[in-house]
Amino acid sequence: MKRIVLLILSFLALTSYAQKFENLALTPPMGWNSWNYFACDVSEDLIREAADAMVSSGMKDAGYIYINIDDCWHGERDSLGFIHPDPEHFPSGMKALADYIHSKGLKLGIYSDAGWETCGHRPGSRGYEYQDAMQYANWEVDFLKYDWCATQGLNAEGAYLTMRDALYAAGRPIVFSICEWGTYEPWKWGGEIGHLWRTAGDIYHCFDCAIERDGGAWYQWGVEQILDMRDNDTLRRYAGPGHWNDPDMMEVGNGMSINEDRAHFAMWCMLAAPLIAGNDIRSMKPEVLEILTNKDAIAIDQDSLGIQGFRYQVADSVETWFKPLENGDWAVCFLNRNPTTRDITFNWSTENVVDAIFGFDANFKENEYSLYNVWTHKKAGTTKKPLKATIPGNDVLMMRLNLSR
Ligand code: GLA
Repeated sequence: MKRIVLLILSFLALTSYAQKFENLALTPPMGWNSWNYFACDVSEDLIREAADAMVSSGMKDAGYIYINIDDCWHGERDSLGFIHPDPEHFPSGMKALADYIHSKGLKLGIYSDAGWETCGHRPGSRGYEYQDAMQYANWEVDFLKYDWCATQGLNAEGAYLTMRDALYAAGRPIVFSICEWGTYEPWKWGGEIGHLWRTAGDIYHCFDCAIERDGGAWYQWGVEQILDMRDNDTLRRYAGPGHWNDPDMMEVGNGMSINEDRAHFAMWCMLAAPLIAGNDIRSMKPEVLEILTNKDAIAIDQDSLGIQGFRYQVADSVETWFKPLENGDWAVCFLNRNPTTRDITFNWSTENVVDAIFGFDANFKENEYSLYNVWTHKKAGTTKKPLKATIPGNDVLMMRLNLSR
């Protein structure tokens, strides 16, 4: 009898042991977030319109599923401590909004903060983690971005662990997005806690710039600055299905040139980064939509192996990146970081492209790959001949290498 009781008790202990929700985000999450373009100017009307645009533009068909409300949706906590949305901008409430988003076949994301206040000075979740998680589950939220403002004295891993456990206890599978800007090396502990973690501070819609904020207290970074901020070889070993490095939401369509938008998008795909659009998708230019919905580029990002690409070489500020793909294929991306055009030559048979961390060898001497240009959607010869190409300034040449069998 005693044995049976013990068995039951240990079974209960094991099954109730908190963990993160598995089998979520097996490929990098794709969606849209309000912050980069709208900042605090959010409302239920905007969120519904974004959901409508996601469907009518074809972005949903291309794989974008999450409609994420960032900071400033918050109203006040009630007398029991439950958080409510700002009644002026979200008069119908979050559950009604979630129902609308779900009726479109999309998923709803929300935002909170591990500290006492969000970065936009709204109520944070500190001390209310379980209640907030319960509220999000009741609203049928599907994604939580959890920020790191006003966290003085908190331990990052511990704070994110508390929210992970709270979400798990609330019982609704929610993608957990860790947003502490890479300060405490979340790639080292984030895999057990969340599904993605920011690796850098906030992005800005420029290719090469650093924008000073609050007298130098913090900065917003251009695409190149974010690419260089951490050692990619260190980071990439921590990424994979269900746990991704997040170089921040995209700025495609927010003011860079089309070449720069394309390079930004291509590099996020090479990095197996979450593809969270940050522009006004209700009114984007066709060229911007074309970039965001490029199915061949998206297939590289969403490849089922889930391997983050690596920088293979740099010559005259032209970087060559490779990414192993399923079925023996590879992606290659030549990123021209000069503002002016460059001619490149790449002789495959003399290059030794090996991913020592994940154990892949392109072996161009023995293997032949056919080249497929991801942006022109055209075949581009094979690896048996050296590649010669001209790449405009701040742009890319991105190709899929299909292994010939
Ligand atoms: C931080 C985050 C941003 C955004 C803002 C909202 O800066 O890094 O992505 O969520 O807060 O205030």
